[in-house]
Amino acid sequence: MAEFPYDIRNYRRTDFNDLVRLYRAAEALEPIGRPGSPQAIAEKLGRPNYSPETDLMVVARDADLVGFLDMVPERAIGRVIVDCWLRPEHRRKVMAPRLLDNATRRARELGAAVIHVNVREDNETAKSVLTGLGFHYVRCFLELRLDMSSLDPDEADRAAREFNFFRPGEEEKLAQFQNRSFAGSWGYNPNTPEMIKYRLSLGHRSPRDVVMAYEGDMLNGYCWTEVVKEGEGRIYMIGTDPDYRGQGLGRKLLLAGLSHLKSKGVKIVWLTVDSANETACALYNSVGFRRHTSYLWYEKAVV
Ligand SMILES: CC(C)(COP(=O)(O)OP(=O)(O)OC[C@H]1O[C@@H](n2cnc3c(N)ncnc32)[C@H](O)[C@@H]1OP(=O)(O)O)[C@@H](O)C(=O)NCCC(=O)NCCS
Repeated sequence: MAEFPYDIRNYRRTDFNDLVRLYRAAEALEPIGRPGSPQAIAEKLGRPNYSPETDLMVVARDADLVGFLDMVPERAIGRVIVDCWLRPEHRRKVMAPRLLDNATRRARELGAAVIHVNVREDNETAKSVLTGLGFHYVRCFLELRLDMSSLDPDEADRAAREFNFFRPGEEEKLAQFQNRSFAGSWGYNPNTPEMIKYRLSLGHRSPRDVVMAYEGDMLNGYCWTEVVKEGEGRIYMIGTDPDYRGQGLGRKLLLAGLSHLKSKGVKIVWLTVDSANETACALYNSVGFRRHTSYLWYEKAVV
Protein backbone atom coordinates (compact mmCIF):
# COMPACT_ATOMS: atom_id res chain seq x y z
CA MET A 1 0.00 0.00 0.00
CA ALA A 2 1.29 3.49 -0.90
CA GLU A 3 2.54 5.52 2.03
CA PHE A 4 0.32 8.41 3.20
CA PRO A 5 2.74 11.35 3.05
CA TYR A 6 0.64 13.77 5.10
CA ASP A 7 0.60 14.53 8.79
CA ILE A 8 -2.79 15.58 10.20
CA ARG A 9 -1.94 17.17 13.53
CA ASN A 10 -3.09 19.75 16.05
CA TYR A 11 -2.39 23.41 15.34
CA ARG A 12 0.64 25.01 17.02
CA ARG A 13 1.26 28.72 17.57
CA THR A 14 4.20 28.59 15.17
CA ASP A 15 1.78 27.62 12.34
CA PHE A 16 0.13 31.04 12.42
CA ASN A 17 1.73 32.63 9.34
CA ASP A 18 1.14 29.49 7.26
CA LEU A 19 -2.45 29.43 8.46
CA VAL A 20 -2.96 33.03 7.30
CA ARG A 21 -1.68 32.03 3.85
CA LEU A 22 -4.03 29.03 3.79
CA TYR A 23 -7.04 31.08 4.85
CA ARG A 24 -6.34 33.60 2.10
CA ALA A 25 -5.96 30.88 -0.53
CA ALA A 26 -9.15 29.16 0.67
CA GLU A 27 -11.14 32.36 0.54
CA ALA A 28 -9.81 33.25 -2.91
CA LEU A 29 -10.74 29.83 -4.37
CA GLU A 30 -13.75 28.70 -2.34
CA PRO A 31 -15.10 31.63 -0.34
CA ILE A 32 -17.44 31.26 2.63
CA GLY A 33 -16.58 34.54 4.38
CA ARG A 34 -13.44 33.54 6.30
CA PRO A 35 -11.31 36.35 7.75
CA GLY A 36 -8.25 37.33 5.72
CA SER A 37 -6.08 39.69 7.75
CA PRO A 38 -3.65 38.37 10.40
CA GLN A 39 -5.48 40.45 13.03
CA ALA A 40 -8.91 39.06 12.12
CA ILE A 41 -7.55 35.48 12.05
CA ALA A 42 -5.85 35.95 15.43
CA GLU A 43 -9.15 37.28 16.80
CA LYS A 44 -11.00 34.28 15.42
CA LEU A 45 -8.53 31.91 17.10
CA GLY A 46 -9.03 33.77 20.40
CA ARG A 47 -12.80 33.47 20.61
CA PRO A 48 -14.40 32.14 23.81
CA ASN A 49 -15.11 28.41 24.16
CA TYR A 50 -12.61 27.56 21.44
CA SER A 51 -9.05 26.40 21.67
CA PRO A 52 -6.98 26.33 18.44
CA GLU A 53 -4.67 23.75 19.99
CA THR A 54 -7.56 21.25 20.18
CA ASP A 55 -10.24 22.59 17.81
CA LEU A 56 -8.02 23.33 14.84
CA MET A 57 -5.95 20.75 12.97
CA VAL A 58 -3.56 21.28 10.11
CA VAL A 59 -2.49 19.04 7.25
CA ALA A 60 1.28 19.13 6.78
CA ARG A 61 3.38 17.71 4.01
CA ASP A 62 7.07 17.86 4.93
CA ALA A 63 7.54 21.41 6.18
CA ASP A 64 4.50 22.86 4.35
CA LEU A 65 0.96 23.31 5.62
CA VAL A 66 -1.40 22.32 2.83
CA GLY A 67 -4.77 22.33 4.59
CA PHE A 68 -6.72 22.91 7.77
CA LEU A 69 -9.65 21.38 9.65
CA ASP A 70 -11.40 23.87 11.90
CA MET A 71 -14.04 22.60 14.36
CA VAL A 72 -16.11 25.23 16.13
CA PRO A 73 -18.01 23.76 19.06
CA GLU A 74 -21.54 24.98 19.74
CA ARG A 75 -22.29 22.84 22.79
CA ALA A 76 -25.65 24.37 23.70
CA ILE A 77 -27.18 23.14 20.43
CA GLY A 78 -25.13 19.96 20.20
CA ARG A 79 -23.26 20.72 17.02
CA VAL A 80 -19.77 21.28 15.72
CA ILE A 81 -19.29 23.50 12.67
CA VAL A 82 -16.51 22.14 10.50
CA ASP A 83 -14.56 24.16 7.97
CA CYS A 84 -12.06 22.03 6.10
CA TRP A 85 -9.92 23.11 3.19
CA LEU A 86 -7.03 21.59 1.25
CA ARG A 87 -4.91 23.10 -1.48
CA PRO A 88 -6.29 21.59 -4.74
CA GLU A 89 -3.00 19.89 -5.67
CA HIS A 90 -3.15 17.92 -2.39
CA ARG A 91 -6.70 16.64 -2.72
CA ARG A 92 -6.73 12.84 -2.66
CA LYS A 93 -9.60 10.39 -2.24
CA VAL A 94 -8.08 9.04 0.97
CA MET A 95 -7.85 12.47 2.56
CA ALA A 96 -11.53 13.35 3.12
CA PRO A 97 -12.39 10.22 5.19
CA ARG A 98 -9.30 10.77 7.35
CA LEU A 99 -10.23 14.39 8.00
CA LEU A 100 -13.80 13.38 8.77
CA ASP A 101 -12.52 10.77 11.27
CA ASN A 102 -10.64 13.52 13.10
CA ALA A 103 -13.67 15.83 13.09
CA THR A 104 -15.93 13.03 14.31
CA ARG A 105 -13.55 12.15 17.13
CA ARG A 106 -13.47 15.76 18.30
CA ALA A 107 -17.27 16.11 17.93
CA ARG A 108 -17.71 13.00 20.09
CA GLU A 109 -15.36 14.40 22.75
CA LEU A 110 -17.48 17.55 22.79
CA GLY A 111 -20.70 15.56 23.10
CA ALA A 112 -22.06 16.95 19.81
CA ALA A 113 -24.90 15.15 18.03
CA VAL A 114 -24.20 16.57 14.57
CA ILE A 115 -21.47 18.03 12.37
CA HIS A 116 -22.48 20.94 10.13
CA VAL A 117 -20.56 22.15 7.10
CA ASN A 118 -21.28 25.31 5.11
CA VAL A 119 -20.48 25.46 1.37
CA ARG A 120 -21.22 27.98 -1.34
CA GLU A 121 -23.91 26.83 -3.77
CA ASP A 122 -21.50 26.70 -6.72
CA ASN A 123 -18.88 24.55 -4.95
CA GLU A 124 -19.74 21.29 -6.74
CA THR A 125 -16.58 19.51 -5.54
CA ALA A 126 -17.33 20.12 -1.86
CA LYS A 127 -20.97 19.10 -2.32
CA SER A 128 -20.07 15.81 -3.94
CA VAL A 129 -17.32 15.05 -1.38
CA LEU A 130 -19.76 15.74 1.46
CA THR A 131 -22.45 13.55 -0.06
CA GLY A 132 -19.89 10.77 -0.52
CA LEU A 133 -19.00 11.05 3.17
CA GLY A 134 -22.63 10.60 4.25
CA PHE A 135 -23.61 14.23 4.77
CA HIS A 136 -26.99 15.46 3.60
CA TYR A 137 -28.25 18.91 2.70
CA VAL A 138 -30.30 20.56 5.47
CA ARG A 139 -30.60 24.30 4.91
CA CYS A 140 -30.02 27.10 2.44
CA PHE A 141 -28.83 30.52 3.65
CA LEU A 142 -29.08 33.45 1.25
CA GLU A 143 -26.41 36.10 0.93
CA LEU A 144 -28.24 39.35 0.14
CA ARG A 145 -26.83 42.61 -1.16
CA LEU A 146 -28.13 46.15 -0.98
CA ASP A 147 -26.85 49.06 -2.99
CA MET A 148 -27.35 52.04 -0.66
CA SER A 149 -28.23 54.28 -3.59
CA SER A 150 -31.58 52.46 -3.82
CA LEU A 151 -32.47 53.40 -0.22
CA ASP A 152 -34.75 56.32 0.69
CA PRO A 153 -32.27 58.39 2.77
CA ASP A 154 -34.95 60.47 4.50
CA GLU A 155 -36.86 57.43 5.74
CA ALA A 156 -33.61 55.86 6.99
CA ASP A 157 -32.42 58.99 8.77
CA ARG A 158 -35.86 59.52 10.35
CA ALA A 159 -35.73 55.96 11.72
CA ALA A 160 -32.20 56.48 13.08
CA ARG A 161 -33.35 59.43 15.20
CA GLU A 162 -35.73 57.16 17.14
CA PHE A 163 -33.04 54.93 18.69
CA ASN A 164 -29.84 54.90 20.73
CA PHE A 165 -26.69 52.83 20.48
CA PHE A 166 -25.39 50.05 22.70
CA ARG A 167 -23.58 51.21 25.85
CA PRO A 168 -20.85 49.21 27.62
CA GLY A 169 -22.48 47.36 30.51
CA GLU A 170 -25.47 46.21 28.42
CA GLU A 171 -23.83 42.91 27.41
CA GLU A 172 -26.01 40.79 29.70
CA LYS A 173 -29.19 42.54 28.57
CA LEU A 174 -28.32 42.11 24.89
CA ALA A 175 -27.36 38.44 25.35
CA GLN A 176 -30.67 37.68 27.07
CA PHE A 177 -32.60 39.62 24.47
CA GLN A 178 -30.90 37.91 21.54
CA ASN A 179 -31.59 34.53 23.06
CA ARG A 180 -35.26 35.43 23.42
CA SER A 181 -35.65 36.87 19.94
CA PHE A 182 -33.74 34.07 18.17
CA ALA A 183 -35.17 31.19 20.24
CA GLY A 184 -36.04 28.37 17.85
CA SER A 185 -34.09 29.81 14.90
CA TRP A 186 -32.23 27.06 13.07
CA GLY A 187 -28.51 26.98 13.96
CA TYR A 188 -28.76 29.69 16.61
CA ASN A 189 -26.37 28.99 19.48
CA PRO A 190 -27.51 30.91 22.59
CA ASN A 191 -25.30 33.88 23.32
CA THR A 192 -23.53 34.83 26.54
CA PRO A 193 -22.41 38.25 27.84
CA GLU A 194 -18.83 37.01 27.35
CA MET A 195 -19.50 36.34 23.64
CA ILE A 196 -21.13 39.76 23.20
CA LYS A 197 -18.12 41.42 24.84
CA TYR A 198 -15.75 39.46 22.63
CA ARG A 199 -17.67 40.26 19.44
CA LEU A 200 -17.82 43.97 20.25
CA SER A 201 -14.09 44.01 20.97
CA LEU A 202 -13.10 42.81 17.48
CA GLY A 203 -10.91 45.26 15.57
CA HIS A 204 -13.50 46.32 13.02
CA ARG A 205 -16.39 46.65 15.48
CA SER A 206 -17.62 49.28 17.89
CA PRO A 207 -20.45 49.35 20.48
CA ARG A 208 -21.95 52.21 18.46
CA ASP A 209 -22.59 49.78 15.62
CA VAL A 210 -25.48 48.26 17.59
CA VAL A 211 -28.76 50.16 17.39
CA MET A 212 -30.91 49.51 20.48
CA ALA A 213 -34.67 50.06 20.70
CA TYR A 214 -36.02 50.71 24.19
CA GLU A 215 -39.48 51.34 25.49
CA GLY A 216 -38.77 52.76 28.94
CA ASP A 217 -36.28 50.29 30.46
CA MET A 218 -37.43 47.45 28.23
CA LEU A 219 -35.20 46.48 25.34
CA ASN A 220 -37.54 45.41 22.55
CA GLY A 221 -35.28 45.32 19.52
CA TYR A 222 -31.75 45.77 18.19
CA CYS A 223 -29.86 45.90 14.91
CA TRP A 224 -26.16 45.01 14.99
CA THR A 225 -24.21 46.39 12.04
CA GLU A 226 -20.54 46.23 11.08
CA VAL A 227 -18.21 47.82 8.55
CA VAL A 228 -16.42 44.93 6.85
CA LYS A 229 -14.12 46.89 4.56
CA GLU A 230 -13.86 50.33 2.98
CA GLY A 231 -17.31 51.19 1.62
CA GLU A 232 -18.88 47.83 2.56
CA GLY A 233 -20.94 46.91 5.60
CA ARG A 234 -23.07 44.13 6.98
CA ILE A 235 -26.24 43.70 8.98
CA TYR A 236 -24.78 41.17 11.38
CA MET A 237 -27.92 40.50 13.45
CA ILE A 238 -31.36 41.98 13.93
CA GLY A 239 -34.15 40.97 16.25
CA THR A 240 -37.32 42.26 17.82
CA ASP A 241 -39.23 41.09 20.87
CA PRO A 242 -41.70 38.33 19.86
CA ASP A 243 -44.48 40.33 21.56
CA TYR A 244 -43.75 43.40 19.40
CA ARG A 245 -43.52 41.79 15.97
CA GLY A 246 -45.51 42.86 12.94
CA GLN A 247 -45.78 46.48 14.15
CA GLY A 248 -43.07 48.02 12.01
CA LEU A 249 -40.25 47.94 14.60
CA GLY A 250 -38.03 45.55 12.62
CA ARG A 251 -38.20 47.74 9.53
CA LYS A 252 -37.35 50.90 11.49
CA LEU A 253 -34.42 49.20 13.21
CA LEU A 254 -33.10 47.92 9.91
CA LEU A 255 -33.36 51.39 8.38
CA ALA A 256 -31.66 52.91 11.44
CA GLY A 257 -28.83 50.38 11.08
CA LEU A 258 -28.49 51.24 7.39
CA SER A 259 -28.45 54.96 8.17
CA HIS A 260 -25.63 54.33 10.66
CA LEU A 261 -23.65 52.37 8.04
CA LYS A 262 -24.24 55.17 5.53
CA SER A 263 -22.81 57.69 8.02
CA LYS A 264 -19.64 55.54 8.03
CA GLY A 265 -19.25 55.76 4.25
CA VAL A 266 -20.80 52.37 3.46
CA LYS A 267 -22.24 52.01 -0.04
CA ILE A 268 -22.87 48.27 -0.29
CA VAL A 269 -24.48 46.26 2.52
CA TRP A 270 -24.50 42.47 2.91
CA LEU A 271 -26.45 40.13 5.10
CA THR A 272 -27.07 36.41 5.47
CA VAL A 273 -30.54 35.02 6.09
CA ASP A 274 -32.02 31.56 6.37
CA SER A 275 -34.11 31.10 3.21
CA ALA A 276 -36.81 29.50 5.40
CA ASN A 277 -37.14 32.69 7.48
CA GLU A 278 -39.99 34.18 5.46
CA THR A 279 -40.56 37.19 7.73
CA ALA A 280 -36.95 38.32 7.60
CA CYS A 281 -36.70 37.65 3.84
CA ALA A 282 -39.83 39.77 3.22
CA LEU A 283 -38.44 42.56 5.39
CA TYR A 284 -35.08 42.62 3.60
CA ASN A 285 -36.73 42.43 0.20
CA SER A 286 -39.02 45.36 1.02
CA VAL A 287 -36.00 47.54 1.84
CA GLY A 288 -34.23 46.64 -1.43
CA PHE A 289 -31.90 43.73 -0.57
CA ARG A 290 -31.47 41.25 -3.43
CA ARG A 291 -30.04 37.72 -3.56
CA HIS A 292 -26.35 37.62 -4.45
CA THR A 293 -25.48 33.98 -3.75
CA SER A 294 -26.44 31.11 -1.41
CA TYR A 295 -24.66 28.97 1.13
CA LEU A 296 -25.79 25.42 1.73
CA TRP A 297 -25.55 23.66 5.08
CA TYR A 298 -24.80 19.95 5.16
CA GLU A 299 -25.25 17.72 8.19
CA LYS A 300 -23.97 14.39 9.41
CA ALA A 301 -24.98 12.71 12.65
CA VAL A 302 -22.15 11.85 15.04
CA VAL A 303 -22.39 8.17 15.87
C1 LIG B 1 -37.23 39.53 11.36
C2 LIG B 1 -37.76 40.43 12.48
C3 LIG B 1 -36.61 41.29 12.98
C4 LIG B 1 -38.87 41.32 11.90
O1 LIG B 1 -39.28 42.18 12.96
P1 LIG B 1 -40.74 42.85 13.01
O2 LIG B 1 -40.70 43.78 14.15
O3 LIG B 1 -41.79 41.80 13.00
O4 LIG B 1 -40.74 43.60 11.61
P2 LIG B 1 -41.85 44.60 11.01
O5 LIG B 1 -43.08 44.61 11.87
O6 LIG B 1 -41.18 45.89 10.76
O7 LIG B 1 -42.20 43.91 9.65
C5 LIG B 1 -41.34 44.13 8.59
C6 LIG B 1 -41.73 43.28 7.41
O8 LIG B 1 -41.53 41.93 7.73
C7 LIG B 1 -42.50 41.18 7.04
N1 LIG B 1 -43.31 40.50 8.03
C8 LIG B 1 -43.62 40.87 9.30
N2 LIG B 1 -44.34 39.93 9.91
C9 LIG B 1 -44.51 38.94 8.99
C10 LIG B 1 -45.16 37.68 9.02
N3 LIG B 1 -45.78 37.23 10.11
N4 LIG B 1 -45.09 36.92 7.90
C11 LIG B 1 -44.44 37.34 6.79
N5 LIG B 1 -43.80 38.53 6.72
C12 LIG B 1 -43.86 39.31 7.80
C13 LIG B 1 -43.32 42.11 6.22
O9 LIG B 1 -42.71 42.25 4.96
C14 LIG B 1 -43.19 43.37 6.98
O10 LIG B 1 -43.37 44.50 6.20
P3 LIG B 1 -44.86 45.08 5.98
O11 LIG B 1 -45.45 45.23 7.35
O12 LIG B 1 -44.59 46.38 5.29
O13 LIG B 1 -45.57 44.09 5.15
C15 LIG B 1 -38.38 39.59 13.64
O14 LIG B 1 -39.32 38.70 13.07
C16 LIG B 1 -37.38 38.79 14.45
O15 LIG B 1 -36.79 39.30 15.40
N6 LIG B 1 -37.20 37.48 14.12
C17 LIG B 1 -36.32 36.59 14.89
C18 LIG B 1 -34.87 36.94 14.66
C19 LIG B 1 -34.55 36.86 13.18
O16 LIG B 1 -34.93 35.92 12.50
N7 LIG B 1 -33.81 37.85 12.69
C20 LIG B 1 -33.38 37.92 11.32
C21 LIG B 1 -32.20 37.04 11.12
S1 LIG B 1 -31.48 37.27 9.53
